[in-house]
Amino acid sequence: MKNTYNLRSIAAKAITQVLEQGQSLSTVIPELQQKVSDKDKALLQEICFGVMRVLPQLEWLINQLMVKPLKGKQRIFHYLIMVGIYQLIYTRIPAHAALAETVNGATDLKRPQLKGLINGVLRQFQRQQQALIEQANKHINQHLHPKWLLERIQKAYPQNWQTIVDANNQKPPMWLRVNQLHHAAKEYLALLEESNIEAELDTNHSSAIRLLNPCPVSALPGFNQGWVTIQDRSAQGCAELLTPCDEESILDLCAAPGGKTTHILEIAPKSKVLAVDIDAQRIKRVKENLQRLNLHAVVKTGDGRLPHEWAANEQFDRILLDAPCSATGVIRRHPDIKWLRRNEDIDQLVTLQSEILDAIWPYLKRNGTLVYATCSILPQENSEQIKAFLSRHPDAVLSETGHSDSPGIQIIPEAIGGDGFFYARLTKQ
Ligand SMILES: C[S@@+](CC[C@H](N)C(=O)[O-])C[C@H]1O[C@@H](n2cnc3c(N)ncnc32)[C@H](O)[C@@H]1O
Repeated sequence: MKNTYNLRSIAAKAITQVLEQGQSLSTVIPELQQKVSDKDKALLQEICFGVMRVLPQLEWLINQLMVKPLKGKQRIFHYLIMVGIYQLIYTRIPAHAALAETVNGATDLKRPQLKGLINGVLRQFQRQQQALIEQANKHINQHLHPKWLLERIQKAYPQNWQTIVDANNQKPPMWLRVNQLHHAAKEYLALLEESNIEAELDTNHSSAIRLLNPCPVSALPGFNQGWVTIQDRSAQGCAELLTPCDEESILDLCAAPGGKTTHILEIAPKSKVLAVDIDAQRIKRVKENLQRLNLHAVVKTGDGRLPHEWAANEQFDRILLDAPCSATGVIRRHPDIKWLRRNEDIDQLVTLQSEILDAIWPYLKRNGTLVYATCSILPQENSEQIKAFLSRHPDAVLSETGHSDSPGIQIIPEAIGGDGFFYARLTKQ
């Protein structure tokens, strides 16, 4: 049966919503994916994420091909052309099909009169493709990162910034967390083998498995029964470092969508977990994840800076604070971060993180443990944040993770390894 939608115009809409309206792909894509077939869901994702990965190259190419850029209400057609060029360079879709579908996108977007222009630009690109790409490679910054971010990464990692930037520009590996309440990782690996899904165990995290090729969750044995969760190996380190125990009271702050809440409960199913997040929409996902895994926690919407509003006088044995951050460690999973974040955001995030840390510290019992985590690679949000916290709170002691001059463990993103992540473990004297 012929599709009633045009996938390329849907991709152009998604890209417009990100680059013109500041929305994230992870908000925009699931909504738009509802309109398309399962096969096209993957293609929509591939095109939109791919465009974000190589945006400066595509912008440069369009500028060579068009005398006057499309602006205002016509901006979406600029992105439609981008979708066309992306397919010609980076996908195996036959050129004639990529071209025809992209040009037809103009009809879907109710401007059939622009079909000639779009067709002309794409055909001109096709004729000069190789020469244009060679020129683009000479003119644009090959790192494909905004200048401010590249400078921050180079300053923080003078030796290995190139490894980080290269990893950021790759497609991310798919990691699973095996629910130990059902299977040991080794047993689940055997189930994957039976389903012809190639995978390998992780050496660092007992529940982590890496798939050699990403696959839809519906293909994973027992996904709906909660046997397994999609979670990067670095993120799996947080709950492990927290070492939750049964019967303890545990606060998971900034919990949505619940990846770490459910991990805590898989390790200590009889612990009493309170999961809190400021975002009511995302809180719904915590509830869905708990339900899929058949786990139980109290879930509340609340601001981490105002714990008296949701914690009353309770104190916790353990607190996990997975703080809001720049997400600069997960750029390969969310390449739109490169264009959505601004340099000025970093200082604001650092302030928010320290406000939450200070507000929550009195809610930790004496001898209790707090794990502070971010998916950032910037020292301001990580080691420097914890160093400043330790100097403000003499009753806080760094435990196991690093030393007081450079507190915490910083993981950088690596091609087949984990995401960029930071953890510090503190105890209260
Ligand atoms: C890194 S994400 C959390 C991921 C989550 N821990 C997981 O493992 O699935 C950060 C979260 O912080 C939340 N957040 C941001 N500002 C907050 C605040 N002031 N109080 C509580 N939560 C906040 C965001 O809504 C977001 O869900």
